[in-house]
Amino acid sequence: MTRPALPESRELLQGLFEISQAISQVQDPEQLLRKVMDVAVETVGAERGFLVLREGPDRIRFAVSHNISEEGASRIRRPPQSIVNQVLQTGEPVLSTDAAVDARFSASESVLDAQVRSVACVPLVVRGQVQGAIYVDSLTGRGRFNQETLLFLTAFASQAAIALENARLYASLREENRLLREQLRSEYDFSEIVGNSPALRELFEILPEVSASDATVLIEGESGTGKELVARAIHQNSPRRHRPFVTVFCSSLAESVLESELFGHKRGAFTGASENKVGLFETANHGTLFLDEIGEIGPQIQVKLLRFLQNGEYRRVGETQMRHSDVRIVAATNKILADEVRAGRFREDLYYRLNVIHISLPPLRERKDDIPLLADHFLRKYARRSPKRILGFSPEAYKALRSYSWPGNVRELENAVERAIVLAKSEVITPADLRLEPLREVDSVGDTERTLEEVQRDHVLRVLRANDGNISQTARKLGVSRRWLHYKLKEWQE
Ligand SMILES: Nc1ncnc2c1ncn2[C@@H]1O[C@H](COP(=O)(O)OP(=O)(O)O)[C@@H](O)[C@H]1O
Ligand SMILES: [Mg+2]
Repeated sequence: MTRPALPESRELLQGLFEISQAISQVQDPEQLLRKVMDVAVETVGAERGFLVLREGPDRIRFAVSHNISEEGASRIRRPPQSIVNQVLQTGEPVLSTDAAVDARFSASESVLDAQVRSVACVPLVVRGQVQGAIYVDSLTGRGRFNQETLLFLTAFASQAAIALENARLYASLREENRLLREQLRSEYDFSEIVGNSPALRELFEILPEVSASDATVLIEGESGTGKELVARAIHQNSPRRHRPFVTVFCSSLAESVLESELFGHKRGAFTGASENKVGLFETANHGTLFLDEIGEIGPQIQVKLLRFLQNGEYRRVGETQMRHSDVRIVAATNKILADEVRAGRFREDLYYRLNVIHISLPPLRERKDDIPLLADHFLRKYARRSPKRILGFSPEAYKALRSYSWPGNVRELENAVERAIVLAKSEVITPADLRLEPLREVDSVGDTERTLEEVQRDHVLRVLRANDGNISQTARKLGVSRRWLHYKLKEWQE
């Protein structure tokens, strides 16, 4: 009798293929076990099957089954002659093509009970140790097993064992990782940073590790997105927290002034350098130096900063001697620094040195879920300082907050809430208190129709908007007092 060997072999190969696929894809041990069982039973044409795993020296776990109850399986496993126990003990596969008349198992009532015709059982071996067994049988003789079945099951089991070991390892690593993160998190406090958008959750994930390390950080985000807040939080949660946190606004100073601010200078290094000057790199020693608006620094400082990031050394202006400082650099920019590199305005090597850890803070309009949380946060903060009793926002106010585009980001939101509390006429803040309607664009040339009061109102509101709603700053820009500004804003609201 010739057997159609090809289709059968192809099926067996397919089974092996499926299990090697599962090795790389399935990371959940239980899911993998089910997959192993299903493929094994299907491939050899068995009706029943189960898989046991050694959990300890004397503990065997009934892990997964196909068409058979744990109770039924336990009868098959019953010692002393049970096939499964034999396999577990010897590590050798067992095949019986007619179990009912097989002398080896004639005493095994379990096999006789079940009227089993064909039985195969193979060990799961991990690193030379029998870690379990796969058992399959056929009652009808439909899938009569042969040596080829056994060969397949043995190869299959060795693949499955590797997959299982990987999945277990992966699961235990994942658990360990989770525990470590949890432990780490409980030692940190980032409660100042409010938000629950995916971007912020991702940030909270990495902040503990970032804080614990000394790695240079580059924070990108539009103005008002919280870059400085994050930089401070990193410092506050770092081992450097008891040392200085020094902020430098790189955009506000001319290059030569900034250079001597950062690195210091020697007396007589240039006209006006009447004394030796200590630089901020020295002041911030053992602490954190926050370089805000890093995209604005000129080529000379870029070179010096690169040097410092490479070997921790710098030179005071007018000095030849190298100085050392242990400063952690956190830099921020509201530009896309990679674009500055492409445009040739920022050194590529410096960019990579700065960008060891990259944090990107999306504009508020791209994380609207954070808006109500932030608004409530600022309301609590400013209501506490206000003599008024403010309970919260009306539903319409929340809606208005969400639909506004926030060009000044969180800073603008904070100022809007502070202003709304000043302007609020009741205990609940309404959209009118928030004053979020866009300014009407006016053509000032040929504008002869408006009263002085109207022009004043538009101008004040425009300056207020340009200053992200900051009242003190607006008052200063307009050359008026805060009191006057408050008074006017209230009046115009009527
Ligand atoms: N996620 C946030 N949670 C709470 N306050 C925030 C958040 N983001 C920004 N702020 C607040 O908004 C204001 C502007 O943030 P800041 O860090 O100065 O922004 P940037 O440096 O990006 O211009 C600050 O008062 C800051 O505390
Ligand atoms: Mg800032």
